[in-house]
Amino acid sequence: MTLPDGLRLRRAHPQDLDDVMWLEHTSFPTDAWSRSQMSGELYSPHGYYVVVETTDVGAPTIVGYAGLSSLAGNPVADVQTIAVAAEQRGKGVGRELFTELLDEARRRGVHEVFLEVRADNPVAQAMYTAFGFERIAVRPRYYQPDGVDAWVMRASLEPADTSAAGRPGPIGQEALDEHD
Ligand SMILES: CC(C)(COP(=O)(O)OP(=O)(O)OC[C@H]1O[C@@H](n2cnc3c(N)ncnc32)[C@H](O)[C@@H]1OP(=O)(O)O)[C@@H](O)C(=O)NCCC(=O)NCCS
Repeated sequence: MTLPDGLRLRRAHPQDLDDVMWLEHTSFPTDAWSRSQMSGELYSPHGYYVVVETTDVGAPTIVGYAGLSSLAGNPVADVQTIAVAAEQRGKGVGRELFTELLDEARRRGVHEVFLEVRADNPVAQAMYTAFGFERIAVRPRYYQPDGVDAWVMRASLEPADTSAAGRPGPIGQEALDEHD
């Protein structure tokens, strides 16, 4: 799996907040996270956020982001969010972002991943199902102010390479190095 030409995936930085918030508001017009919520996510030591940006010299633009959260040593992780700019959808960007989250979960030794998705979002549901997620519960009127149900979905993860479990991946290591 690869991204379309002109796009690359990297770990998110707190400095990406403005771009991510712009995409957050256009992707989730009625229930976007607040700036402080998103900032907390980007700074969280338990989080793993990645972005896809254009490779245009001088003016890279973020066209997608996704985040995972898991406590150290916990075999359970949550997919926090994922969004792709409308004009870039249907080209495999979401699949790349989601694959990277699940790869990071495996590297962290996670065995089980949960997420929530709006009941009226068949596109995202189709993607999660294609990755092996199954609906395990419904939370009535979870999304406000729309009053739309949430599907809780779950997948088991098989460790792809047990020798890598618990170690940061190439993208994670790059960001950790910056903070050494
Ligand atoms: C959900 C979302 C992230 C998918 O991103 P994307 O880049 O368009 O997805 P991709 O092109 O990588 O496709 C991945 C899978 O999603 C599903 N999918 C994508 N577009 C679809 C469509 N129009 N209809 C049905 N399924 C679709 C397919 O399962 C697809 O896999 P396939 O290509 O092997 O069939 C994107 O639609 C989005 O940002 N939506 C708005 C925000 C949102 O709803 N986020 C999810 C919150 S829970």
